[in-house]
Amino acid sequence: ELPERVRVWEVGARDGLQNEQSVVDVGVKLEFLDRLADAGLSTLEATSFVHPKWVPQLADAEELLARLSRRDGVRYPVLVPNERGLDRALAAGVQHIAIFGSATETFAQRNLNRTLDGQFAMFEPVVSRARAEGLDVRGYVSMCFGDPWEGPVDAAQVISVGKRLVDMGCSQLSLGDTIGVATPGQVEALLAGFVDAGVDLDALAVHFHDTYGQALSNTLAALRAGVSTVDSSAGGLGGCPYAESATGNLATEDLVWMLDGLGVEHGVDLDKLADTSAWMAQRLGRPSPSRVVRALRG
Ligand code: HMG
Ligand code: MG
Repeated sequence: ELPERVRVWEVGARDGLQNEQSVVDVGVKLEFLDRLADAGLSTLEATSFVHPKWVPQLADAEELLARLSRRDGVRYPVLVPNERGLDRALAAGVQHIAIFGSATETFAQRNLNRTLDGQFAMFEPVVSRARAEGLDVRGYVSMCFGDPWEGPVDAAQVISVGKRLVDMGCSQLSLGDTIGVATPGQVEALLAGFVDAGVDLDALAVHFHDTYGQALSNTLAALRAGVSTVDSSAGGLGGCPYAESATGNLATEDLVWMLDGLGVEHGVDLDKLADTSAWMAQRLGRPSPSRVVRALRG
């Protein structure tokens, strides 16, 4: 049983770009966001309010949001790790934020400079203050299936981290296969585990990386299980700066091609999107890793 409609949560401007070595001009980022909105994408993760030394690519978050012309009907969530990030996001007029927790001890330390438990103490005041300000808060869980330092990750641990984020006040969880090692059976099992733990499927999103070529199969497994929000990145841009083996996110074009074939609505104009990714690939100086972009724009 597939959902009638999928909400595509476009992460290209954030997850896609955060790992780029050379800093992309803020004007190019703004044009990218505009073109993604023109292509019909209505959730555009725009940037992160993290420490600029940790992610230099996104050090322009204030300028980006000040110059962004927000469209009606388009949401522009941003990543926020701590209260300092929330202050910055609030000053920039943000309405949707995402905190990003780790399912593993090592990645919590590498990505957040916190212990697994310590991350919750950092997030708690962020979520409560954000909710009091009327903001929507998404919670990412990274390393849901495997971790480059710890190996396979126990589903029970992922569920416990995810539950804590939901209980804290996150309206949605995005389950991240940060290094792209998951296979569909594991996806089904993890989703079933969340449902058993009382988390509604409507409150779950999936976030796959295509390192081992499994992103689309995993997405289909999640859709069949009843998930209807899928994270993807235009042209398959991306990785994660603290997870060296991670390659690109699921490409939005690959997702859209599959959804078209399945007759699932998504609201995206594939032609405009592929043009945008081809344009961005030129700006970055290398071809898009998306199979669909290559097939359409070779
Ligand atoms: P820390 O060094 O522990 O921070 O870093 P701190 O709280 O000790 O503060 C140290 C200094 O940094 C202070 O300045 C703070 O003000 C400043 P000082 O008083 O020394 O002058 N500071 C900040 N400045 C600007 N913005 C801030 C901020 N916070 C503190 N927000 C911290 C902790 C969380 C900040 C750091 O580890 C960090 O920025 N990490 C971000 C890493 C990141 O962005 N990773 C990529 C995103 S996660 C991802 O991609 C996975 C995902 O896609 C899902 C998936 O694929 O699975 C979401
Ligand atoms: Mg990611």
